[in-house]
Amino acid sequence: ALRAPAAIFGEKRRNSKGFDLSDRGVLAAIETERTKPLQTAHPLTVSDPSGAEKPVTNPATGEVVGTVVEADPATVARALADARVWDAPAPERAAVLERAADLFEENFGILFAILAKEAGKTLPDAVGELREAVDFLRYYAREGEDVSRGPRGIIAAISPWNFPLAIFTGQISAALMAGNAVLCKPAEQTPLVAFKAVELLHEAGIPKSALQLLTGRGSVVGQAITADPRVKGVVFTGSTDTAQRIARTIAENLAPGTPLIAETGGLNAMIVDSTALTEQAVRDVVASSFQSAGQRCSALRCLYLQEDTAPHVIEMIKGAMDELVIGDPWLLPTDVGPVIDADACDEIAAYIANNANAVLHQVDVPGGGFFVPPTMLRVDGIADLEREIFGPVLHVATFKARELDRVVEAINSRGFGLTFGLHTRIDSRVQQIAEAIRVGNIYVNRNQIGAVVGSQPFGGEGLSGTGPKAGGPLYLPRFFAPDPAPAGA
Ligand code: NAD
Ligand code: ALA
Repeated sequence: ALRAPAAIFGEKRRNSKGFDLSDRGVLAAIETERTKPLQTAHPLTVSDPSGAEKPVTNPATGEVVGTVVEADPATVARALADARVWDAPAPERAAVLERAADLFEENFGILFAILAKEAGKTLPDAVGELREAVDFLRYYAREGEDVSRGPRGIIAAISPWNFPLAIFTGQISAALMAGNAVLCKPAEQTPLVAFKAVELLHEAGIPKSALQLLTGRGSVVGQAITADPRVKGVVFTGSTDTAQRIARTIAENLAPGTPLIAETGGLNAMIVDSTALTEQAVRDVVASSFQSAGQRCSALRCLYLQEDTAPHVIEMIKGAMDELVIGDPWLLPTDVGPVIDADACDEIAAYIANNANAVLHQVDVPGGGFFVPPTMLRVDGIADLEREIFGPVLHVATFKARELDRVVEAINSRGFGLTFGLHTRIDSRVQQIAEAIRVGNIYVNRNQIGAVVGSQPFGGEGLSGTGPKAGGPLYLPRFFAPDPAPAGA
């Protein structure tokens, strides 16, 4: 088979903050943390918390790596009563967030270790995740340091397991930079990294009454904080179904006009036409589909290849898939780690089994742990995708040049609108498709994952989110109280 370059994710191994994974000091710090025993997490609230203790599992091995106390309803009620807006002046809040960013960077070893143990993140993904969390802290601090508007009040922040540090920190840092009191609820699967992050945020100087961590279940903690009328805004990232449920809860319980910022799922497509540079397109397809085991909202789900070059490109994708190193997230060469838990593993495996006739290529995975084989499936078009499959599954369709408009229409007609990729060397085609496609983030002649805070604000439209985009200039303003209506209005 023709093969794409082996170092598919090579460029991700270094970042701007100096976490060079070939540096012995960096590796030694991670190794020290790796060998430490079980971690614990519990609600970090003003009043003493209570609740049942649950195990936290390593998705790469199935082993228990920690415990978490999940907040009970009484703990949530006390946290709501204890919450106070952060009344320090804006420049002081900005300085505290900058200090928190420094602390995050200083504690990189333990943060990488928890991300690997609890979320199954490969080390390059853990580097990217910490960088994004730090970028959010510094970006919102800079955006808000000169703003003199007041906060809304209590903000509920609910986050997913797939970016358990970056998205968790992004939501919190914007809400805090606007002076709000934040009640944050991490995903059930990833409480340990949230606990460490909030410990560091408190250490940096954020008062406990302004930032309380409520580890626990969506149906208990998430439901309670989105239904309490003292809550003046909700920021959520997760599935579209949960966002719709939260929107109903807010409508039934909170004041009219309470904002919900929701960043949700996607059915993301990429079009590769016959003018594309094949090696580049293949590298970007494989990274977009299989990096992070496909567990990115931005990940490529449906690839459209122009018929003339499709057979060649498909052969090259197969070769590149065979080069993927799948396994232990602790090992530096690993490209693809496990999916998050047994339920996800079973669900994706069942989906692949149901579509066994359509498998174009699949690669082996190690035994033990929750590994799903990276898989390429043949489809006629995006209409064939039942739903967002949140794992390493790539669907491939072909199109004729004259069908391009219909392909764009088919993508738009699904109603999601998160990311879209295009590989072409025809400038007018870029212009034409970018105007027609309805998504939040378009990537041309590159992969379609890994938006960078500040330079690539990230967020979708339609079923993919409400906006404003995270890491962009419109995000922080949503966390301030609305300006009073002008006199006479
Ligand atoms: P999820 O919707 O299952 O859970 C997200 C959070 O909501 C968790 O903290 C969960 O406990 C909480 N929750 C569940 N039920 C709730 C309820 N009734 N009330 C309040 N909170 C509740 O999503 P997930 O599986 O953690 O994450 C994967 C999904 O997130 C995918 O669909 C992915 O596309 C999406 N995602 C989107 C973005 C984006 O920026 N658009 C980023 C990352 C992930
Ligand atoms: N911001 C993340 C990405 O772009 C979700 O992949």
